[in-house]
Order: sequence, then structure tokens, then C-alpha cells
Amino acid sequence: MMTTPSKDDPTLLVKTEKPLATSVWSHRHILGLEDFTLKEIELVLDTADTMKEVLSRPIKRVPTLRGKTIVTLFYEPSTRTRVSFELAAKNLSADVVNLSASSLSATKGESLVDTLDTLESLGADIVVMRHPHSGAPYIAAKYLKASIINAGDGWHAHPTQALLDLYTICAHRGNLKGLKVVIIGDIKHSRVARSNIWGLTTMGAEVTVCCPFTLLPIGLDKEQHHFPKVSIQPDIELALEGADVVMVLRLQLERQQGGLLPSLREYVKLYQLTDSRLKKAKAEALVMHPGPVNEGIEISPDVAHGPKSVIAEQVTNGVAVRMALLYLLSRGGE
Ligand code: CP
Repeated sequence: MMTTPSKDDPTLLVKTEKPLATSVWSHRHILGLEDFTLKEIELVLDTADTMKEVLSRPIKRVPTLRGKTIVTLFYEPSTRTRVSFELAAKNLSADVVNLSASSLSATKGESLVDTLDTLESLGADIVVMRHPHSGAPYIAAKYLKASIINAGDGWHAHPTQALLDLYTICAHRGNLKGLKVVIIGDIKHSRVARSNIWGLTTMGAEVTVCCPFTLLPIGLDKEQHHFPKVSIQPDIELALEGADVVMVLRLQLERQQGGLLPSLREYVKLYQLTDSRLKKAKAEALVMHPGPVNEGIEISPDVAHGPKSVIAEQVTNGVAVRMALLYLLSRGGE
């Protein structure tokens, strides 16, 4: 184990081969990847590598955030994101408070802003927030001195998921430049898809989305410019042709409105990622899914648990990537 303090940051108790280029970091909050530069994304991924080294030690804890208070504030259910943020904060020696919708005074009518004010008055330094309404973390960032991390807002964004997805791809492929990444599924309701589209295209990947036209979001087609340009291919077998990475999304049954799909059975027939369809992708293709997985709906069990699947690795990498983000935020930005 290396215990020599780095030139970068002695609290990490690690000697990094090249110092982290933390001077490129300009964020006080992490709200979406729209305003992340390539260099900032690369810094997050390099910092996550350092955190991986911390996590490989017998004692996976460094004093970096000692004395800081991190609150996870979840108005929607979560397993992976909430637990990995809690682990990440504890590994950096922060104090962690977990709050979920059912335990909040919001159930007695308190507004979001009042809840956030209360958390700040109690000394929160960073608030990790998931909310069913798109934009809620942006409101929080406007009102609070604490840093806000968007852990998923409505259909809009899930930037920390996209960053761990980018990290997982880079761990296998080195970088993303020129890779064909196919995102299959319910793009319309997917904050993961939106954040990945920004992150992947900033990193130089070629993104193809594949879904029924009714599950495409407004603004993705080439006539509009709400997203970076991506290819749209509704035929799954054509979309998968030559893919380096296949990202499958959960069909968000809780967010469906009537009439978007003829039936679940038809969706499964036309869009489920099966072993035979996956043969169209490159032999070394990676299969990803942000979870939770509806096995047997958007992905067949043999693909979800097959040799190309890196779904479990995505979850594991979430801790290192979220440690990296907490670390970078704690160093400050504008
Ligand atoms: N991927 C993701 O956000 O999972 P959770 O809902 O379990 O946090």
C-alpha cells in the first residue's frame, strides 16, 4: 500500500503518478453534463482512478472530508445511487445524513425550499438530491450556499450515472473517441439517456438511439438543437450493427402515459436485447444497464448475466466516481 502523501492532496494518502489537473474544475454544483468540458470529464475519471486505488486498500477510508456534512435527500426511491453516495462519503470520512421523502416534514406540507434552508441551517455542506420534478436541484442550487449534486431529476438528468457509465467504458476501452454506442429503450423518460448523450458526445463517441418513435424525446431529432446530434435508428438489428457498447434502458412503467406503446408484449418482441440480436454488435461489445433492470422486458436474463454484461461493474464503479465528485466539489469551484 502506498502511503506517501501526493503533491496534490495529502489527505488522499496516495502518491499519484501524475498530479490531478484539479485547476480545470469550475463547478460548485453538479447539475447536468451540458456544462462539463472534455477536460472536466477527464478529471473526474482520473480522480475516480485514484479513488479506486483507495478502495483497493484493506482500510478503504481517507480523511479528506473529515468535518464535512453530506446529506442525501431522496424524494424518489433509489438503491444504487443513494447507497453508493453514502459509501463514497463515509470512505472520505464525511458525516452522512440520509433523508427520504417519507421521513421529511414535506409530508406535513413543508416546501422544498424550506426543507433545503433547514438542511443548510443544520450545517449541510453538500446535498445529494433526487426529485421527481425536472429542475428541482437547479432551484436548490440557486437558493443554497451548500453544493448540490443532482442524483436524478424527473426525466431530465442523472449526471453521476452518466459519469460512472463513461468510467466503466473507459476502463475497458481506454477512451470513447469513435466508439459506436447504441442506447436502446425508453429514451423519452430517461434522465440517464439525456446525461449519457451529453457525456458520450463530449468524449467523442458516436451515439445511436433506438426506440419506437413514441419514446423519442422532443428535441432529439436533427431539426432541433436541444441535444448534441445523435443518430436515430428505430430498427434494433440495424442499430446494433457494429456497436462497441450497447446501453439498455429500463422501460419506466411508472412514467408511461397512455398510448405510447401498443402493448408491453409488442415492446418486448421488437426491442428486447436478446442474445441473437446482440450478435449484430461487435464480438467484444459491452452490455450496460443503469439499473434497476426489468429482466425479460428490455433485456433477456441470459444477456443481463452474460459474458458481455458489465452491469455489476457499473454499480461497483459508482462508489469511486461519486468519491471523485465529492472530493472535487469539496475543493471548491465558482
Ligand atoms: N441507476 C440508478 O439511478 O439506480 P437507483 O434508482 O437504484 O439509484
